Amino acid sequence: MAGMTSECPEFAATRGLHPVLSDRFSPLDFDAGSEVSDAEVDTLLDAARSAPSAGNSQPWSFVVARRDDAVHRRVLPYLASSSAGWAGRAGLLVVHLCHLFVEDTPDWPYSEFSHYDVGQAAAYMTVQALALGLSVRQFRAFDRDGLAREFDVPDHWEVATMSAYGIAGHGIGESLPGSRSRRSRADITWARAGVATTRE
Ligand SMILES: Cc1cc2nc3c(=O)[nH]c(=O)nc-3n(C[C@H](O)[C@H](O)[C@H](O)COP(=O)(O)O)c2cc1C
Repeated sequence: MAGMTSECPEFAATRGLHPVLSDRFSPLDFDAGSEVSDAEVDTLLDAARSAPSAGNSQPWSFVVARRDDAVHRRVLPYLASSSAGWAGRAGLLVVHLCHLFVEDTPDWPYSEFSHYDVGQAAAYMTVQALALGLSVRQFRAFDRDGLAREFDVPDHWEVATMSAYGIAGHGIGESLPGSRSRRSRADITWARAGVATTRE
């Protein structure tokens, strides 16, 4: 990928980055013997509640599926073949729903920033999970329309993404080759005084 420099062929811990962030990785396997407790689920939902949102619109809702519970049994059939193995072993699956339109209007945006805000809520949940000792893989490899039907999600809401939570089944060093490469700092900087960027 353009902008991928030798500065960061793989994402190594960099100066000053908080260990919660530098140690984070998205596992492709989870320990099927470990559980995410109800109390931990409550804390994760509280993390989402604490996230900022445009106009405090809070355009999010979540399908919460702990492994082997009744909701989990409804979610499992909609995982894609690429995610069914590892996501099925995770202690917790969360589906992120996004409030897109005002109810009973053709297409009036509920908030211009709904997707942005839902992503931010997912990030807050991810960081909270790490603080609880859990790992997280966010993903979209599932049948979004099928899940919308299964959970009666109306047209003015959207099934956006999912996250799998649990105890990682492997270490950060065993991530797929290239899957943790990062664009360089210069490449993600559009403009910054006194600093060369890849656009200049
Ligand atoms: C919105 C979103 C969708 C993703 N979809 C998938 C997916 O469908 N399957 C998958 O294996 N990983 C998925 N991922 C995980 C990314 O591949 C992963 O975060 C990326 O390779 C960086 O690796 P890292 O999180 O370990 O740093 C997704 C991540 C995000 C944020």
